[in-house]
Amino acid sequence: MKQFWRMILVISLQVLAIEGSHQRPPAATPAHATLNNALSFDYYMNSCPQLEQIVHNKIMQWIKRDRTLAPALIRLHFHDCAVRGCDGSILLNHKGSERKANASMSLRGFEAINDIKQEVEKKCPKTVSCADILTVAARDATLAVGGPFWMVPFGRKDGRVSLAKEADHTVPIGRESVTRLINFFQSKGLNVLDLVVLSGAHTIGRSTCESLQFRLSNYNGTRKPDPTINRHYRNLLRRKCKKASDYVNLDGVTPNAFDVQYYTNLEKKMGVLLTDQLLYSDRRTEPLVAVLASQPSVFEPQFAASMVKLGNILDHFNNGEVRLNCERINTY
Ligand code: HEM
Repeated sequence: MKQFWRMILVISLQVLAIEGSHQRPPAATPAHATLNNALSFDYYMNSCPQLEQIVHNKIMQWIKRDRTLAPALIRLHFHDCAVRGCDGSILLNHKGSERKANASMSLRGFEAINDIKQEVEKKCPKTVSCADILTVAARDATLAVGGPFWMVPFGRKDGRVSLAKEADHTVPIGRESVTRLINFFQSKGLNVLDLVVLSGAHTIGRSTCESLQFRLSNYNGTRKPDPTINRHYRNLLRRKCKKASDYVNLDGVTPNAFDVQYYTNLEKKMGVLLTDQLLYSDRRTEPLVAVLASQPSVFEPQFAASMVKLGNILDHFNNGEVRLNCERINTY
């Protein structure tokens, strides 16, 4: 019977994936529908037709120099959209801004976005928001490391508010329960499938040991490690994690490939973050992990579709502007 439901799930996912690959954003949830109508594919068609070419060239240059910037930019976009929607609020660089939050400690890629913005300002002054630049940079970063392409609708505005305490209150840091993750995603108009698929971004990139050390010993005050980590893998992580500031790959098997190994790892108790591993122990998410691990052709188009949904989160759209410098709100 379980097998039957799994088959149904595979078929539904494939239908979703095919819909997603038609390069149209998936239908928005009612709460976000009106705001999403603000975005369009031809938004800069007349005002900045060269935008995507500029971003693409710059991203290729930056990633050629430092490949670790690709996952960093994808994560930066997620953190931006997670607080106040995709409004570039993560880029603001002032005392008490989101960027200064504990949850933002290991974020990177700000210089690349500033560099792109400067180039865009030269060609299309006062036209393109930093939020749009970050969104399309995350898409090109995905593509640069072998991930899927998707069309990005444009027209986001840059927010004028950015609060560290909001980021620390909102952005998941890897210690949450699956229920909390689902609730957080739902509050942004994303569903359980989006949660499992977007967590697949952890197929590339790395984590500081700080985010997982609590699993390696004295887990939940038990004086024992987290039992959901494979014993040999735990020993390897222990050897790599001498200090909280050391790094480990989020996909320990194929860290540089944008593939479904992340999901296979979860099946083998080799998830690096607690929140990754928990996806394979919860009845709401486990079947999705199993399908994604066994059906590689489903992952990429569904990732593209879920990234469009992520990029379409617009919580405070009407209070925005087109910032001239991504690190500062405009002064009039
Ligand atoms: C589901 C909830 C999520 C949690 C709890 C989570 C948590 C984390 C944590 C703890 C790290 C490592 C931070 C450190 O350096 O210590 C990380 C890295 C990363 N996350 Fe997530 N994340 C989540 C969702 C996402 C989503 C939706 C995306 C993008 C679509 C994403 C993309 C990434 C990437 C690419 C990295 C590696 C960054 C790098 O190499 O610089 N994550 N995440």
